[in-house]
Amino acid sequence: MVVMKDVQKHFGPLHVLKDINLTVGKGEVVVVIGPSGSGKSTLCRTINRLETIDEGSITIDGKTLPEEGKALAKLRADVGMVFQSFNLFAHKTILENVTLGPIKVRKLSSAKAKEEGMKLLKRVGVDNQASKYPAQLSGGQQQRVAIARALAMNPKVILFDEPTSALDPEMINEVLDVMVDLAREGMTMVVVTHEMGFARKAANRVVFMADGQIVEEAEPETFFTNPQSSRAKDFLGKILTH
Ligand SMILES: Nc1ncnc2c1ncn2[C@@H]1O[C@H](COP(=O)(O)OP(=O)(O)OP(=O)(O)O)[C@@H](O)[C@H]1O
Ligand SMILES: [Mg+2]
Repeated sequence: MVVMKDVQKHFGPLHVLKDINLTVGKGEVVVVIGPSGSGKSTLCRTINRLETIDEGSITIDGKTLPEEGKALAKLRADVGMVFQSFNLFAHKTILENVTLGPIKVRKLSSAKAKEEGMKLLKRVGVDNQASKYPAQLSGGQQQRVAIARALAMNPKVILFDEPTSALDPEMINEVLDVMVDLAREGMTMVVVTHEMGFARKAANRVVFMADGQIVEEAEPETFFTNPQSSRAKDFLGKILTH
């Protein structure tokens, strides 16, 4: 579903993605983990072209990411994104947040978009909040709306960039539960997270990044119990003890 080949990316003199080769199969869940500044967010952002790449190629479902224009908008609709900070539209209701994309991009009628939107809000457990505004919801509820909004575009893959790290601890599980369900339903997902419980429960693979490189890839259990590189060992030592 997602193939990154020999991808290089610089920010000025900083080489942030170094020779990235990553393949995510249909229905596969890949967790990306690694120290701050290692390039995890940049990697996600290149997949839906919020960032350009300098060299290499990225294909989504066999199609190369176009440079710009209508084709890019269309392809971007295939790639959902859920951010750490929810990024809901503050002046739109919860239901409007979920229906806006389908009406504008998928050209659904307002009635059809609302019907689908309510189903999605129900699926993530916030249908009773549909007429409220984002600021009236808890962080966990807002993040679940953000997931419903991503799903409303019928994406082929959803990228999650630290979806629970801005949440109070008691809200983390309600978001992770929705993500685990999505994974079990066969959604293709790339998830930047340090939530090992999620990785163990739902991921097919863990990708460990450091300094812009993929240093290690393994099944979750193998990675967490028997990391190979000294960097992964060092990193896991830190996150396990804090
Ligand atoms: N727009 C930008 N312009 C310049 N440098 C950037 C930009 N975005 C990111 N960087 C730099 O690129 C490197 C990788 O950043 P990135 O945000 O991808 O890391 P990350 O692994 O997601 O880190 P974190 O765990 O803190 O979110 C960092 O050194 C960062 O400072
Ligand atoms: Mg990041």
